[in-house]
Amino acid sequence: MTGRERRGAGRPPPPPDPLHRAADAPPPDAPKSGVFTAGPSSPGSPPFPHRRAALAWGADRLAAAGVYQPRLDARLLLAAALGVPATALLGDLAAPVPATSAYAALIARRAAREPVALILGRREFWSLDLAVSPATLVPRPESETLIEAAKVAFAGRAAPARVLDLGTGTGCLLLAALTEFPAAFGVGIDRAPAAAALARENAARLGMGGRAAFVCGDWGAAIAGRFDLVLANPPYIPSADIPGLMPEVACHEPRAALDGGPDGLAAYRAIVAVLPGQLTPDGVAVLELGPDQAAPVTALAATTGLDATVRADLAGAPRALVLRPARP
Ligand SMILES: C[S@@+](CC[C@H](N)C(=O)[O-])C[C@H]1O[C@@H](n2cnc3c(N)ncnc32)[C@H](O)[C@@H]1O
Repeated sequence: MTGRERRGAGRPPPPPDPLHRAADAPPPDAPKSGVFTAGPSSPGSPPFPHRRAALAWGADRLAAAGVYQPRLDARLLLAAALGVPATALLGDLAAPVPATSAYAALIARRAAREPVALILGRREFWSLDLAVSPATLVPRPESETLIEAAKVAFAGRAAPARVLDLGTGTGCLLLAALTEFPAAFGVGIDRAPAAAALARENAARLGMGGRAAFVCGDWGAAIAGRFDLVLANPPYIPSADIPGLMPEVACHEPRAALDGGPDGLAAYRAIVAVLPGQLTPDGVAVLELGPDQAAPVTALAATTGLDATVRADLAGAPRALVLRPARP
């Protein structure tokens, strides 16, 4: 997840991920002044004369609230309020926006820095349409690196039959893996009961309910048996950094999904300790990495007899650590 990174001074503008520190947020992409001046000043105000006016009004309010991509978010929220695909919205900018639309209320929520995915209740991951909730992390595109890494790790040999996902959240990693390995059965574990329930619901809705089980429990303690593939995107933000994250994250995503303890490595310590007992002899584990964590997590893994290789994400950042039991 790119957004968990702290950005240093002088680096290029950040990608649109909400986990960046608030202080690093780029200047608001304010709409041109004069595009639209009339419009509702609060939720429940009169209807907009047309979509163009509604979009300009919403983007203005989001920009004033410091939202990173106000125009894009206004478009997504107007589309949701009207019940039309976002791609179709711009085709008819002169269409009216009815007074019954929830648009102004949605803009108010986004202006309070609630993430768009949580407002809409959905996020796409690995082309899967997932329900999301405040119970766990909203899946990030960078986490797809783990699935790429798993595919590479099993290329040219038997596909994994049993997949374990530690800290499953929405179930995004497990369900993506099950789409790539269609004969596999998977288990997702999460300490948060509401996250395990959400993942179960996602699996059922995507037609994978019969191939996945979800358990509420602590990393290794909740499950016995060995797996060919273990995936994990653990909480990895150092505790002291959490208040400085953007409000979308710090105020709207659960601490249990973020907090990696004083040095960000607490969950890795717990996970690498149980991994040797969870992997088959030819098994592979793929862990997501936070910034500057490749070296310390590699060192942790070595202490439990695991060899590590690093895989970068599309931005070139070390994102996934691929672990295998060391050969004698
Ligand atoms: C960073 S989120 C990852 C969620 C999902 N796998 C993803 O990639 O979007 C970490 C998840 O680990 C769960 N978690 C935290 N501590 C845990 C523990 N001790 N045992 C099991 N799950 C835990 C959190 O509830 C959260 O859902």
